[in-house]
Parts: sequence; structure tokens; C-alpha cells
Amino acid sequence: MKILVTGIAGFIGSHCAERLLAMGHSVYGIDNFSDYYDINLKTKNADAVIAKGGKIITLDLRDTSSIKDLDTDFDYIFHFAAQPGLSKTATYQDYYANNVIGTEHLIDFAKKNEQLKLFVNIATSSIYGLEATFSEDVTPKPASDYGVTKHKAEQLVLEQSEASIFKACSLRLYSVIGPRERPEKMYTKLIDLGLKGEPFPLFEGSEKHLRSFTYVGDIIDGIVSVIGKETTVNNEIINLGTEAEYTTQQGIEAVERVIGKSITLKIKPKRKGDQLRTRANINKARKLLGYNPQTTLLQSVEAQVNWYKENCI
Ligand SMILES: NC(=O)c1ccc[n+]([C@@H]2O[C@H](COP(=O)([O-])OP(=O)(O)OC[C@H]3O[C@@H](n4cnc5c(N)ncnc54)[C@H](O)[C@@H]3O)[C@@H](O)[C@H]2O)c1
Repeated sequence: MKILVTGIAGFIGSHCAERLLAMGHSVYGIDNFSDYYDINLKTKNADAVIAKGGKIITLDLRDTSSIKDLDTDFDYIFHFAAQPGLSKTATYQDYYANNVIGTEHLIDFAKKNEQLKLFVNIATSSIYGLEATFSEDVTPKPASDYGVTKHKAEQLVLEQSEASIFKACSLRLYSVIGPRERPEKMYTKLIDLGLKGEPFPLFEGSEKHLRSFTYVGDIIDGIVSVIGKETTVNNEIINLGTEAEYTTQQGIEAVERVIGKSITLKIKPKRKGDQLRTRANINKARKLLGYNPQTTLLQSVEAQVNWYKENCI
């Protein structure tokens, strides 16, 4: 199959591209190599994909001028490109332009692909809001610009499947961790600062937050399992994550155990929009996709620490 992956140089997009290549697909990727975090990390991710046979074009989805030159014979589109996370530096306009306008442009492009079997939108548990423990049919209550704009993008994609313009599904991911995790996220920061013996900035009260920390390999299992199931998943929203819940404190302890050092904490003020509890309800994913994530928190942290030591020191 010929597959387009947007956001291919990012954390999850690069893993997905590598898996698709290993499955024997032709993978083409686009990414604008945004400077939201160190571009060298994205270049490393992209190089790993290219080394396995992927092709990558530098292209910004906010801009329509270059996307019109892409081939229009894709069988699948996996849409990861986004302004992710709760960022102090990203404005509402950044979230809106990358997540909503970028998705609108990709939808216009997707319509030109006559053989398109499925548009796979990558969404987030942040769409649910401060608590994300629900099945896919509850009313979303996003509590951040990120959640609001990712919800809008999801609606725009599913508007196409609802109107039978093309088949589409939206996969809502839960706290993805593992090798290549973005540098501003919790585990990469814990590992980095922990190994250096520097204090970890903890948002006040967040040690009690509950999270479905899910290994990136388990997330990719779920994402690629939609291939060939387009009739089953068409117009569906599906949660992907682990049902195991851990507190942030347990996450800190897992890193301490793997690196063999204790980590000091520096308390920072609470962050607006920070989710209090996420636990992936994956009954639908189990039923439709046979989804069954198995990696434990400790195994995930071990893999991430090994990657960090090999690539970031
Ligand atoms: N990391 C998580 O825990 C998590 C959880 C839930 C959902 N998600 C979703 O997964 C997707 C990937 O997240 P990630 O953590 O890999 O982030 P990431 O920032 O590592 O990857 C996103 C990639 O998209 C690219 N990009 C951003 N705007 C673009 C644009 N306008 N045009 C082209 N490329 C653009 C970036 O350069 C980056 O390489 C996002 O859609 C995010 O909302 C992530």
C-alpha cells in the first residue's frame, strides 16, 4: 500500500512510519520540522525512517502551496502533524493554525486521492477534558487550547466520513511514552534531569495525577491494526491506550529505579488544562481491533532510558 504519514519526523509519527515500512508498505511522509522542540531530534527521527526506505518531504500543512504538488494516489493517510501538548510558548493561534487549518488543508488534499481507503486521524484523550476515563460516546469537555483544536480537527475529519466523502476514523491516544518521547514531556525530562542530578520541576499537586502511560510500541500496534479494517472502523472514534493507571509519583519512582538514582523535585505552580485523571477505556478497541496493550510501565521506562543513553548523551 502507498501510505502518507504527516508529522513523520515527530515522536509517534516516526515510529508509525518505521512499523509501516517493516510491514512492507511504501511510506511517504511530510513534516515542517517545526522548532517547537530541538530540530536535531526530528532530523534524527527522519533519518531513521529514510534509512529504512521512507521518503520525506519538508512541507507545512498550514500552507496550501506545496501540498498541491504531492502525488494523489495514496491508499491510506495517517495524520499525526499537530502542535501538541500544553505549551507555555504556543499561542491559541499556533494550535488553531497547525491543528485546525492544517487538517482542513489535508482533508482537501485527501479528497483528490480517488483510491483512498481510509483517513486515520490521530487525536488525543485531551479531547475528553480534565478527566479522560470514558467511552468514546461521552460529550467532550476539552479544557485546553490543545484539546479544543484537536477536537475540532477530529470533527472536520469525521464530517467527511459522515457525508461518505471518504472513509475515516479518529484514534484518541493516551499519554504515549518510550524512545523518542518529546523532550518537554515528563519521562524524557525525568531521565535527563535525573541522570544529571538536577531537580525535576513538578507542577504542584500533579504527583497525584493518574495517567494511562502507554508504551509507544503498543500505541503503534493499535494504529496500524486499522489497515484492512476500513469498513469496520469507518466513522468511528476509538480510544488507544493502556487500562493500567499510574500516578505521576509512581512514574517518578519507576525512573528512579531504572536509572538507580533518586530524583529531587522543584515544585512549580499548577498548569492550566492539566488532566487530573486519564485511564483509557478500550472496550471498543478490543472489540473492533483486537487491541491488547501489554507493556508494563517499568518495561517502557527501561526502553526509554536505554534510548536516551544511546541517543541523547
Ligand atoms: N505524545 C503523546 O503522548 C500524544 C498523546 C495523544 C495524542 N498525541 C497526538 O499524536 C500526534 C503526534 O504527537 P507527538 O507527540 O509525536 O508530537 P511531535 O511534535 O513529536 O510530532 C508532531 C510532528 O508534526 C510536525 N508538524 C507540526 N505542525 C506541522 C505542520 N503545520 N505541517 C507539517 N508538519 C507539522 C512537527 O514538526 C512534528 O515533527 C499529535 O497529533 C498529537 O496530538 C500525542
